[in-house]
Amino acid sequence: MKHAVKILILVILISACRQMHSDSKIPFAEGREIVTENGMVVSAHPEASRIGISVLQKGGNAVDAAVAVQFALAVCYPEAGNIGGGGFMVLRQSDGSKHVLDFREKAPLAAKRDMYLDEDGNPSGNLSTDTHLASGVPGTVDGVTRIHSLYGRLDFRDVIQPAITLAEKGFPLPEDQAASLNRNRENFISRNRARPAFVKDSLWKGGDILRQPELAKTLKRIRKYGRDGFYSGLTAQLIVNEMQRGNGIITVQDLENYSSVFREPLQAGYRNYSLSTVPPPSGGGIILVQLLGMIESSPVGEWGFHSAKAVHLVAEAERRAFADRARYSGDPDFVRVPVRELTGREYLKSRMSDFNEKRATPSADISAGDPLPAENEQTTHYSVADHHGNAVAVTTTLNNTFGSSIVVEGAGFLLNNEMDDFSIKPGAPNMYGLTGGDANAVEPGKRMLSSMTPVIVEKEGKLFLVAGSPGGSTIPTTVFQVIINVVDYNMKITEAVDAGRFHHQWLPDQISIEANTIDSLTLKKLEKMGHEFRTRSSIGSVNAIQILPDGRMAGGPDKRGFNTACGY
Ligand code: DON
Repeated sequence: MKHAVKILILVILISACRQMHSDSKIPFAEGREIVTENGMVVSAHPEASRIGISVLQKGGNAVDAAVAVQFALAVCYPEAGNIGGGGFMVLRQSDGSKHVLDFREKAPLAAKRDMYLDEDGNPSGNLSTDTHLASGVPGTVDGVTRIHSLYGRLDFRDVIQPAITLAEKGFPLPEDQAASLNRNRENFISRNRARPAFVKDSLWKGGDILRQPELAKTLKRIRKYGRDGFYSGLTAQLIVNEMQRGNGIITVQDLENYSSVFREPLQAGYRNYSLSTVPPPSGGGIILVQLLGMIESSPVGEWGFHSAKAVHLVAEAERRAFADRARYSGDPDFVRVPVRELTGREYLKSRMSDFNEKRATPSADISAGDPLPAENEQTTHYSVADHHGNAVAVTTTLNNTFGSSIVVEGAGFLLNNEMDDFSIKPGAPNMYGLTGGDANAVEPGKRMLSSMTPVIVEKEGKLFLVAGSPGGSTIPTTVFQVIINVVDYNMKITEAVDAGRFHHQWLPDQISIEANTIDSLTLKKLEKMGHEFRTRSSIGSVNAIQILPDGRMAGGPDKRGFNTACGY
C-alpha cells in the first residue's frame, strides 16, 4: 500500500505542465499533459474537470463524474455546456459492454418542413439560428438523469450539487471566456427581454466572477425532481412562457414527450483496434468508420505525417464520405439509414475504386455554400475514465456558440439553435456548409442530423482511447485524424490532439486547413493534383484520454481553447 502511494506521488510529480490541488481530500493533478493512475477527466473548462475529478474521488464512477461534468459545463461553459441542448454519449463499462445514449434534441410537434423558408421558398434570414424557432426540444436533462439512474453509484443529489454551488457562488472567468461573453453581448441584449446573467454593466474581464442564481434554482428543481424538474412543473412552464414571448413553438406536450434513446453502438475494426461510436441520428460515426475503412489498406504511417500522398488519400476519402452523408443520413426513427451498407468493407472498397492517386476528383457542383467562420462554432466534448475500466465519451452542444443566445427568462439557461442542423431546404447549406435532402428534412418529432462523434477505442479488448470533439461538420474528420495520429503515426495523445488538421466535406470542393499545418512544398504538390486549400483559424477542440500500456491514463486536452485535464 505504502509503495502504491509512493508511486502515485511520483507519477503526479513528474507530470509536466500541471499544478497540485489539495482543496479536496486527495490531491489531484491538473493541466494539459498529465498521466495518472486512478481517474481522469478532460473537459473544456478547468472548473468542470475539477468537479468531475472530485466526484471520482468521492467514490463515484465514470458515469457519476460525467453527469457532474455535464451539469458543471452548463454553468461554467455556457458557450456549449448546457441543459437546454442535447448530445450523444458512448459508455464503456468495466465488463467491456458498450452503450450509446442519444439525447439529441427533437423538432417540436408543430414543426413544419418549410418553416424556415420565405414565400419564394428560400431560406428566410436567420430563423433557424437566432430565434425562438431555432430550438429543438432539449434532450440533455432526460439523457443524463437516465444514464445516472441506470449506471451511477452516487446519490444523484451529490452529483448535481457541485454545479449548483458553482452557479450560486460563481467562478472566475478565464480571459478568453470573458472575451467570448463580450463578443456575444449584443446578441444577449437584443434577443432577451430580461438581462441575462451573461451581461453586466461593463464588459467582462478575465478573473471577474460569473454568478447565475436563476440557473442555480433550475438545477435545484432538477436535484429535487430529477427529469421532471425540467420537463414539467415550473421549469417547463418557464420554457413555454419564453416560447410564447418570442413566437416559438415548443409546448408542454413536447417537453413531456421527450425521451432519450439507447441505440446500438456503431462498432468497427481498424488495424488491430476496435472502436465504438454513435449511429444516426449522428452522421459522424458513419463518416469516421468510412474514413478508417477507406484508408485501412494504405500504409499511411509509412507515407509520413501530412505527406502529399496521405493528405490526398484522406481528402478523397472525406469527399466521398460526406457525399454519402448528404444523401442518406437522417433520424433512423423516420428514415431508413443504410448504416451497415455504408460501412461495409466491400462498399468502402468500391467507393474508392475511382480514386486517382495522382489527381483530385472534382466534387459535383450543387451550390456554393459560404465557408464558415470558425469562431462562430461551439460544441464541447468531455472524456472520463475511472480505475474500474469504465469510460464515458460525451459530445454535447447548443449548436453554435451560446446556441440561440436566448435565455429562458426566470430559468437562467440558454436555448439551443439545433433546428439549423436539419436540411431546411434540399441542397441549401446549413451554418456548417452541410447540405442534405429528404432524409434530413424537418418533420415533427424528428431528430436533426448531427456530426457529433464521441468514440471509445479498444485494443485487444482493453480500453485504449476515449475521444471526441466539437467543430460541426469537421467533428468526424477531427476524431479520425486523432485516431490515425495515435495508431499510424505513433504520437502521444497530446501531440495527436494538438497536431494541425485539415478537412474536406465534399461541398464546398476544397480542403480547409489550419495555418502552418502542411509545409508549402507539399501544399504546392497537392494543388497541382487539383486540390484547393482554404486556411481557417482552427478545426475542432479534442478532449481525449489514452490508456498507456501499463494501464495509466494520459490526458489529452486540446491546446485549442481552455481545455483542462484533471487526474489522480
Ligand atoms: O450536431 C452537430 O453536428 C452540430 N450541432 C454540432 C455543432 C458544433 O460542433 C459546433 N462547434 N464547434
